[in-house]
Amino acid sequence: MTRHAESTAFEQFGAAYWEDRHRNGEGEGRHEPSPSLVTLTAGLPPGRALDAGCGNGADARWLAACGWHVTAVDVSRTALRRGRRSAQAAGPASAERIEWVHADLTTWEPGPDTFDLVTSHYVHVPGPQEPLLRRLASWVSPGGTLLVVGHDGRPGHGDHSSRSARLQRGQVVASLPSDRWTIVAAESRTHTVRRPDGGGAVTLDDVVVHARRRAATRA
Ligand SMILES: C[S@@+](CC[C@H](N)C(=O)[O-])C[C@H]1O[C@@H](n2cnc3c(N)ncnc32)[C@H](O)[C@@H]1O
Repeated sequence: MTRHAESTAFEQFGAAYWEDRHRNGEGEGRHEPSPSLVTLTAGLPPGRALDAGCGNGADARWLAACGWHVTAVDVSRTALRRGRRSAQAAGPASAERIEWVHADLTTWEPGPDTFDLVTSHYVHVPGPQEPLLRRLASWVSPGGTLLVVGHDGRPGHGDHSSRSARLQRGQVVASLPSDRWTIVAAESRTHTVRRPDGGGAVTLDDVVVHARRRAATRA
């Protein structure tokens, strides 16, 4: 990809951009589960989970190992292939609890109220993010949990990411009507991850929104 094409595609965050990124190894992603997800699920009984924009599936594998039945969705076939391979290498008990789905989250239709947990980390789509945030929320069953993690969009934060790939916690909270959702946490967190290529560590500034859907309401 030329420099111009790369920056244009980056602004668009379309399927071709993500597939290209995964093929080039830039979208290698995490090999360890998200600390926010680990903390949150420590208090939840395993159920049906959606890892939305799963990348190579570190979170999906970890959830499956904890007993969750996971639907792992990504728009990149390369990412899904790597995720499936890693899950198989981790052992059949976990691998068979994960369904890998090639789909675009902006059009995918799993049906409302489908998951006890919807988790999404660092996913960016073309244009405004709010329609996707509302879609993610609509897939959470009554009493279920939503976890959205993005690159912190506050000034002076998230410098490791493109400015256009950042998220404001207000964007997420505004997508969750207060009569239907309880915001458990909406905050900035910093954590360090090891680079998959073994080239040291990188510190991530995250915006983290953890919300619980009120029982017996529609998202
Ligand atoms: C920055 S990566 C994060 C991957 C993983 N969640 C993680 O934290 O390691 C964003 C992922 O979202 C996927 N993605 C982006 N837009 C998508 C869409 N519209 N539908 C499905 N997946 C999408 C990309 O292919 C990519 O794997």
